[in-house]
Amino acid sequence: MIYCDDLCFSYLPNEKEAKNTLNHIQLQIQKGEWVALIGANGSGKSTLAKHLNGLFIPQQGKVMVDGMDASDKKNLLAIRTKVAYIMQNPDNQIVASTVEEDTAFALENLSLPPEEIQRKVNKILQWMGLYEAKEKMAATLSGGQKQKLAIAGALVCEPTYLVADEPTSMLDPVGQKEVMAAFARMHQEKGMGIIHITHRLMEAALAQRILVMEGGEIVLQGTPQEIFAQGPILEKYHLHIPPIAELANVLAQEGYPGLQGVLSVEELVTQLCQFA
Ligand SMILES: Nc1ncnc2c1ncn2[C@@H]1O[C@H](COP(=O)(O)OP(=O)(O)OP(=O)(O)O)[C@@H](O)[C@H]1O
Ligand SMILES: [Mg+2]
Repeated sequence: MIYCDDLCFSYLPNEKEAKNTLNHIQLQIQKGEWVALIGANGSGKSTLAKHLNGLFIPQQGKVMVDGMDASDKKNLLAIRTKVAYIMQNPDNQIVASTVEEDTAFALENLSLPPEEIQRKVNKILQWMGLYEAKEKMAATLSGGQKQKLAIAGALVCEPTYLVADEPTSMLDPVGQKEVMAAFARMHQEKGMGIIHITHRLMEAALAQRILVMEGGEIVLQGTPQEIFAQGPILEKYHLHIPPIAELANVLAQEGYPGLQGVLSVEELVTQLCQFA
């Protein structure tokens, strides 16, 4: 479990007047859970994410990862191995020359047999739609492909938890689907926990739980259905539910019970057919 207790953080800790970027965060993420973290620009999502793998150390409060205290320097290596972190900017994460070498990089440090490394690398590159590009120089890839490469490098190590900060922001719709499908497979087949920061609410709908941040606080949380049923409250936090969820909420208000929080066209059609 990843556990935050009364976590506070300021980028200007010595300025008494400065507002905290994180305010008294209480959070528990179970092993194998898939959580989406949404919120307006500047609400503190990335700052919170950087606390979950020991990149930032709590100034006040606690972060525990599977029983290890992130404030204790001795635990940092183990925490960073357990919790992979995909940054918002993939350029910062590319380390080796070709796509294949870059993906294998972290595995080589684990001294696995070469055939096993090759098998794992091939599998992940196929999942990510990068297999055809495996001999290309990483530096020559497009922004979207670099983003997928950074994700491949994290997934190949099969971490216990993955913190992914807007992992599909540079991708076209096909790439977005490939990444979300790879996350779903790692979640189902390996029990990987996922903390997925996104501005795309349809992607957030894939999670088991959505957390909404505003002003450095978690202001709302619930299942995707529960969150999507609260369109007007989300608007207050500068978040807009997908049109299909909005339509379902309007129909629910018009007297079609059970439609509130519907997440997809298929689900809406199924529900509406019951009234036919
Ligand atoms: N390195 C920094 N130094 C000072 N302030 C920062 C720094 N990084 C972020 N901030 C501020 O902290 C607040 C939270 O930023 P953060 O990047 O965590 O938000 P976010 O929710 O990830 O936003 P976005 O959706 O734009 O990525 C913002 O007001 C931001 O300007
Ligand atoms: Mg951010």
